Amino acid sequence: MELEDRLAELERRREQVRAGGGEERRRKQRESGKGTARERLAALFDADSFLELDMFVEHRGRDFGLDGVAAPGDGVVTGQGTVGGRPVFAFSQDFTVLGGSLGEMHAAKICKVLDLARKTGAPVVGINDSGGARIQEGVDALNGYGEIFRRNTLASGVVPQLSVILGPCAGGAVYAPALTDFVFMTRSVSHMFITGPQVIKAVTGEEVSLETLGGTQAHGAKSGVAHFVAVDEAECFSQVREVLSFLPSNNLENPPSAPPEEPPQEAVRELTRLVPAEPNRPYDVRRLIRAVVDGGQFLEVQERFATNAVVGFARLGGRAVALLANQPAVLAGCLDIDASDKLARFVRFADAFNFPLVTLVDTPGYLPGTAQEHGGIIRHGAKVLYAYSEATVPKVTVVLRKAYGGAFLAMCSRSLGADLVLAYPTAEIAVMGPEGAANIIFRREIAAAEDPQAARQQKIAEYRERFANPYVAAARGLVDQVIAPGETRDSLVRALAVVGDKREDRPAKKHGNLPL
Ligand code: HXC
Repeated sequence: MELEDRLAELERRREQVRAGGGEERRRKQRESGKGTARERLAALFDADSFLELDMFVEHRGRDFGLDGVAAPGDGVVTGQGTVGGRPVFAFSQDFTVLGGSLGEMHAAKICKVLDLARKTGAPVVGINDSGGARIQEGVDALNGYGEIFRRNTLASGVVPQLSVILGPCAGGAVYAPALTDFVFMTRSVSHMFITGPQVIKAVTGEEVSLETLGGTQAHGAKSGVAHFVAVDEAECFSQVREVLSFLPSNNLENPPSAPPEEPPQEAVRELTRLVPAEPNRPYDVRRLIRAVVDGGQFLEVQERFATNAVVGFARLGGRAVALLANQPAVLAGCLDIDASDKLARFVRFADAFNFPLVTLVDTPGYLPGTAQEHGGIIRHGAKVLYAYSEATVPKVTVVLRKAYGGAFLAMCSRSLGADLVLAYPTAEIAVMGPEGAANIIFRREIAAAEDPQAARQQKIAEYRERFANPYVAAARGLVDQVIAPGETRDSLVRALAVVGDKREDRPAKKHGNLPL
């Protein structure tokens, strides 16, 4: 064959692969509000930066009519490109080719980019749109998932792994995204579930729609599986790019810094009076965060899940930080099972990727009740203690107001290893709130008093006077500085300058046993 013929053949083969499952299937894909696998990669990467790998991989299925069936790229496009100028690996499942189903070679392509990402120290973005294990390939398909799960686990804490769900993600396939750091979903397009509506109906009789079962409301607000929810694919990819802009490429790097930027003036003005002195008055802690961080920009994670806790990324004086806070506007900022899971997982991500932890405390404690106790608040709450104690990154805590009982300890207290603890004059650091405390320790005096109601109020006031302030803790060195709210930003920037580059060791061990 002449050279020209060989070049023509290469071009023809490339075109064949780029056509995916054909015009008709691509049209169906677009009609359902979905982009194609290649359009999605174009939306993720910087223009013209994508280098495709394994374009000519073919499946080796021989059963149930698969023999002779062409499956361009075996239903997945893989490769490397840049996002914001930094290298990122990606795979994008092509639903137009055998429903994006995962067979032996499709899995091998994904495994190759996971291996390359780990070896070169670059993040991986997986775009999922698939009917799951390729039924015709049987155990080879299942084995492919196992190979991916193991690689997701080995890469965890080494390179950031992001999962974008843009279509069905069903059965055991959901566990690959679940093993990664962040899951992105898009309204009406993304559906995740272990067993679908038909199986549920057959087994339990329950009738449920695909959207109710595994859509963005289910996973963004209830299960907590999705960390980011978008209205359409364009917004989804801009979220992915924004998250990547905060992350280091791997665990040996620090998160990228940016030029410092003052927060908006009107937010700063509000700050001095934002936290009420009355312990039971609610306020939105996110306003405080925006008044303190660079440019007022806070990238919230799991915005609609366990809203009694708030977590996300921001910058302080140019330095990227992980922010964690109780939210007094929801459940008074109590810690419950879901909030504990949310906080603990974010702490562990931040620790793995070198983000200083900035914790804002205003919580009356763990949420009381049998639902919480029987649901395992003991083991879930323990995760927060474990995660903060285990973390070796710089840890700065600000006690804004209530910090009672175990929740005071859990929210990165000095005893769990906080490097610097700041407190507002409104801070109340005690075993429990004055009302509860007076009822228990002065029960006899109150009962024996001529006017028990007046006696109770007096004992509450005595307890509040004695303990409901930051100075008892400050007298013991458990609080390093008492600051006015208007001094928050400067104090945090200063604190990070002091402890931001500290180093800490842990005893060598295979791994710990995180409470689950
Ligand atoms: C092979 C598949 C497939 C699969 C879809 N297709 N899923 N081929 N294996 N798992 C093919 C279809 O035959 C069809 O081919 C094309 O993809 C598009 O599928 P449609 O059904 O026409 O699309 P739609 O109506 O949009 O429905 C999408 C769907 C449905 C909801 C995903 O296809 C479906 O229910 N598929 C099976 C899902 C499933 O049960 N998978 C196994 C999960 S268990 P043509 O040629 O007509 O275009 C699993 C185990 C993993 O994944 C275990 C890990 C531990």
